[in-house]
Amino acid sequence: MGGAIPGKRKAGLRSLLKLGVAAFGFLAGIGLLVGSYSVRHPAAGISGVDRRDAPPHGLHFMRGKNVVLVSHELTLTGGPLLLMELAVLLKNAGATVQWMTINKRDGAGSEVTDNLEQRLQNKGILLVPAKGEETVRAAVDSDLVVLNTAVAGKWIDSTLKESDQQRVLPKVLWWIHEMRGHYFTLNYVKHMPEVAAVMIDSHATAEYWKNRTQQRLGIKIPKVHVVHLGNSKDLTEAAENPLARHLLRQHVRESLGISDRDVMFSAINSVSRGKGQDLFLKAFAQALKTLGSSTGIYAVIVGSDWIGQPKFEAELRELVEKNGMQHVVRFVNKTMNVVPYLAASDVLVQNSQARGECFGRISIEAMAFKLPILGTAAGGTTEIVVDGSTGFLHQVGKEGVPDLASNIINLFRDPKLRARMGEAGYKRVQEQFLEQHMSERIGRVLKEVLQQ
Ligand SMILES: *[C@@H]1O[C@H](CO)[C@@H](O)[C@H](O)[C@H]1NC(C)=O
Ligand SMILES: *[C@@H]1O[C@H](CO)[C@@H](O)[C@H](O)[C@H]1NC(C)=O
Repeated sequence: MGGAIPGKRKAGLRSLLKLGVAAFGFLAGIGLLVGSYSVRHPAAGISGVDRRDAPPHGLHFMRGKNVVLVSHELTLTGGPLLLMELAVLLKNAGATVQWMTINKRDGAGSEVTDNLEQRLQNKGILLVPAKGEETVRAAVDSDLVVLNTAVAGKWIDSTLKESDQQRVLPKVLWWIHEMRGHYFTLNYVKHMPEVAAVMIDSHATAEYWKNRTQQRLGIKIPKVHVVHLGNSKDLTEAAENPLARHLLRQHVRESLGISDRDVMFSAINSVSRGKGQDLFLKAFAQALKTLGSSTGIYAVIVGSDWIGQPKFEAELRELVEKNGMQHVVRFVNKTMNVVPYLAASDVLVQNSQARGECFGRISIEAMAFKLPILGTAAGGTTEIVVDGSTGFLHQVGKEGVPDLASNIINLFRDPKLRARMGEAGYKRVQEQFLEQHMSERIGRVLKEVLQQ
């Protein structure tokens, strides 16, 4: 393969393979969590592979602006990593970007935070403490403050005196990525009515927040902008590299004892009841009853976590045993490098329960790899998956299990349908879920906030 690959592509491939290899070693070791949505490779886009970043789309007006980003923590989870992506976009647009972390871990166990801080600094982003004179000054003097996640709301009272609050709140854009009940406490969100605007990842989540804040807390939130996320540049690069994809697919399948011909259905989430891996396995068992068991179909649960979820993990293994599925179900420990598993899979199962995902970035990531999605008809998934075109939706709860089972059967039996849906999903990503689309969408919001 060597000679045929131009130098630039070769370098790209080398870094991709590093991504792949990393998944099985070092990164798996520090892969602390796959958050409420999927987490991309932390080194990607942040450490930068010596490439000059092009100015991001739709953010040129941020040149020379002063932006303060407030992160509730700095870990390898979805929220902070997304804010890091924004930090890099703004920096590349020519803004001065200052970063503060509220719940910063010091001492033991802080290697990840230190590492991420280093990456931010390497990108020219300034680190400031979350408290004290310097911080207040930075916030008061800034053009824009982005508060990331509901929990970051604590920062307002813990850091700013009332007189400072009045100066800072009108330039705060509050970015929300969560939909769980325990975030609806005045402790976190009581200042929400006073900020310039709120930015939320999906219409479903925005509706939920509007309802909850009004009905539960009696507060009215300001203008809400729905901004669908996009794939990171690094994920897109991996998805666009057929050779890397091929090698990663081989590598992962070999390690899992799954052949290239077999059809692999993967769920890639943190393992918990809310993500519905139990119901996925039940649907898979039903599908196997129809298909018979030695047919070349596999279920892979990526995100396994015996330490964090011992009871649920035990329940999942029991389900597998009870249904005699040991030979066709694989568990993979949690990792924040999802690329190799996307490359190896044929279908993504997004089985999040209850209100579903806030957005569910793993779905657009899988679509970039031309995977059809079998998703629950809830939350952000309904805004990503076009039912019958880029995948199939089924109901949440056990009511959805028979439909998921028959969707599994249909996709297993019909490679052309898989290919067609994969292409349709890929096209949808090219049209609206790339990084440039996200940066354009964010740009429109920032512009409006700055003009207020
Ligand atoms: C919000 O409230 C309205 C009216 O109370 C209701 O029709 C709608 O379904 C609610 N939406 C969500 C997401 O809870
Ligand atoms: C997965 O994680 C468990 C601990 O939760 C560990 O014992 C096991 O060795 C890990 N497996 C792999 C393949 O890394």
